[in-house]
Amino acid sequence: MRTLIIGVGALGGLIGARLRATGARVWFATRDEASASRLRASGLRVSGLGGVVEVAAPDVAALDAYPAGLAFDLLVLATKAHEAMEIAPRVAGWIDAGGTLLPIQNGAVSQLLADRLGSERVLGGLSNLGATLHSPGVFEQRNAGHLLIGELAGGLSTRAERVRTWLGQGVEVRMTPNLPGAVWSKLLLNCSVTTIGAIAGCTMRAYVGTIEGRTVFDRAYDEALSVAVATGARPEQMMVQPIPPGWSGRSVPGPEHDAWLGEVLRAYGDLKPSMLQDFERGRTTEVDFINGYVVDLGRKLGLPTPVNAAIVATVHGITRGELTPDRSNLVRIAAAAS
Ligand SMILES: NC(=O)c1ccc[n+]([C@@H]2O[C@H](COP(=O)([O-])OP(=O)(O)OC[C@H]3O[C@@H](n4cnc5c(N)ncnc54)[C@H](OP(=O)(O)O)[C@@H]3O)[C@@H](O)[C@H]2O)c1
Repeated sequence: MRTLIIGVGALGGLIGARLRATGARVWFATRDEASASRLRASGLRVSGLGGVVEVAAPDVAALDAYPAGLAFDLLVLATKAHEAMEIAPRVAGWIDAGGTLLPIQNGAVSQLLADRLGSERVLGGLSNLGATLHSPGVFEQRNAGHLLIGELAGGLSTRAERVRTWLGQGVEVRMTPNLPGAVWSKLLLNCSVTTIGAIAGCTMRAYVGTIEGRTVFDRAYDEALSVAVATGARPEQMMVQPIPPGWSGRSVPGPEHDAWLGEVLRAYGDLKPSMLQDFERGRTTEVDFINGYVVDLGRKLGLPTPVNAAIVATVHGITRGELTPDRSNLVRIAAAAS
C-alpha cells in the first residue's frame, strides 16, 4: 500500500520506522522543510519494547511540499487532534480510489472526520501503543500495545483487514467490529483519569483519595458515559470494564464501585497525564476533542455536562496562563457537580 504518514512525532515516527524496517517504502510528511531535511539526514531510530530499528528516511518532505495530484492507498494521520482536523480536508484528495485515511488521535477525531469527509474515506483508529519522541528522529516504544482499527459504522471490512495486515508488519494492529465502543472506552478514561490529573497537576492516585477528587472523577465519568450511551455506543472493555457496577446514569457508591475504581487505579492510577506535558511545553491540548466533545454532544442530546464543561474551561484557563495545574482546581469544579 502506498502509505504516507503525516506527523513524524512519537507515534508517527514509531509506526513509520518499524514499517520501513520491514523493507516497505513509506512516505512521511512533516510540518516544515527544516524538520524534513533534518530527518532525511538523520534517518529514524526506534528503541524500547519491540527492539531497536534504525532506518534511512529518504521520502520525507514538508506536507505543503507534496505536489498536488498524488495518490496514496493509506494516509496515517499522526499529528495532534487540532492539527489532524485542519490537515485532513487538505489531504483528502490524495486518497486513491478505495484508499483510506486513518486518524489515530485520542478522542473523537476519527468520528468527526468521518462526519466531515464521509465514512467511506475514513477508517477509525486509536492507539494503545505508548511512544515517546526523545529528539527529532529518535523514538522510544514504551509498551507492548497496539493500534486498534475498525469501521466507524461498526462491523468488519476488507479494507480494515488490508490495513491491519499492512501496518501489522511493523507494529501490532488489531481490528474490532465495535470501534465506536472502543473509542468511547478510551475517551471515558481520557475525560476522567487524564484530564482531571492534568488540571490537578498529579496522578489519579494522588487526587482520587480526596473528596473533591473523587466527586469530580465520578461526575465527569457519569456525564461522559451518559452521553456515550445516549449516542447508542456500546463502550467496549479495555483494561477495565467501562460501565461501573450498578451504574444507571450515576455511579452508585459502595464496595462494588470502590473495587471497580481500584481496577482503574491499578491500570492507570500512576501514569503522568500526557496533558500535563502539554501544559509544561506550552502546547495546545486535545481537551476540545475529549471533554469538549462530551459537552458538545451533551448539548445536542439535551444531557447536562456541567463538570466536563468546568474541566474544559479550566484547561483553557491553564493554557492561557490564568490558572496553574493544582488540586485547588478540583474544589472549584466539585462545586459545579452538586
Ligand atoms: N504518544 C503516545 O504514546 C500516544 C498514545 C496514544 C495516543 N496518542 C495520540 O496520538 C496523536 C499523536 O501523538 P504524538 O504523541 O505522536 O504527538 P507528537 O509527538 O506531538 O507528534 C505530532 C507530530 O505532528 C507534527 N505536525 C504537526 N502539525 C503538522 C503538519 N501541519 N504537518 C505535518 N506534521 C505536523 C508535529 O510536528 P512539530 O513537532 O513540528 O509540531 C509532530 O512531529 C495524539 O492525538 C495523541 O493523543 C499518542
